[in-house]
Amino acid sequence: MKVLKHMWFAKIVPGQSQQDRLESFYKEQADLYDSYRFRMLHGRLPMIKAMPIPPKGEGVWLDVGGGTGSNLEYFAENLNHFAKVMVLDLCPSLAAQAQERVARHAGWSEFVKVIVADACDAEAPGLPSPGSVDLITFSYALSMIPDWEAALRNAKRLLKKGGHVCVCDFTVDNSQGWGMQTFWASVFASDHVYLRPERRPFLREEFVSVHEELGFGTFPYVPPVLQAPWYVFIGRKE
Ligand SMILES: C[S@@+](CC[C@H](N)C(=O)[O-])C[C@H]1O[C@@H](n2cnc3c(N)ncnc32)[C@H](O)[C@@H]1O
Repeated sequence: MKVLKHMWFAKIVPGQSQQDRLESFYKEQADLYDSYRFRMLHGRLPMIKAMPIPPKGEGVWLDVGGGTGSNLEYFAENLNHFAKVMVLDLCPSLAAQAQERVARHAGWSEFVKVIVADACDAEAPGLPSPGSVDLITFSYALSMIPDWEAALRNAKRLLKKGGHVCVCDFTVDNSQGWGMQTFWASVFASDHVYLRPERRPFLREEFVSVHEELGFGTFPYVPPVLQAPWYVFIGRKE
């Protein structure tokens, strides 16, 4: 109920920086974020399952807009398959949760780093060098990043040739009528989540598509007739 209260009624400070807006929205729900979101972010597991995992010990994974770092849990004790993992997020409260998660898992702190930075900032301290990353994930993050094209270009710059971008997020889809598309776009906009039909075409232009999925998902405490479209896109940098 606390999370719902913040999702529906939280006051988001207008006119401030993106970081201030995120902090005002997430600060009071950061510790409960994981318990609620796993029930509505239906695209995460399909994205994780379809991620092209590099050979053991060689992979560098950057999770952009990684929030509490919950994507890392899917790998649990096998996370050390990756040589290096970075969780980048602009919201200090969520990044603090990610840092606590790293500390809770024995050995993770040796190769997992949490970076508080803007996904669009090519000069952010702690970023890996350009052309050095195997995998970059954006799970439910692109729709919250105002300049999402800049974030994707920054990701492409950091990726190795042949590296992969993996995205899952809410979207609008023409299989739903105009009314339903408008409904979802306005519901999400009230939580600073902006659905854009041009995002998937942009991804296909910037990367070679290797895997795509589209699904429809329910929300806790919401009648199941209301289902929002989500997508997974996995693309390779040529
Ligand atoms: C809906 S949450 C998703 C978090 C996580 N990836 C997950 O799947 O649970 C969106 C995340 O994007 C982050 N974010 C929004 N704008 C950002 C930006 N410009 N740079 C970095 N992170 C950003 C937010 O702080 C938040 O953690």
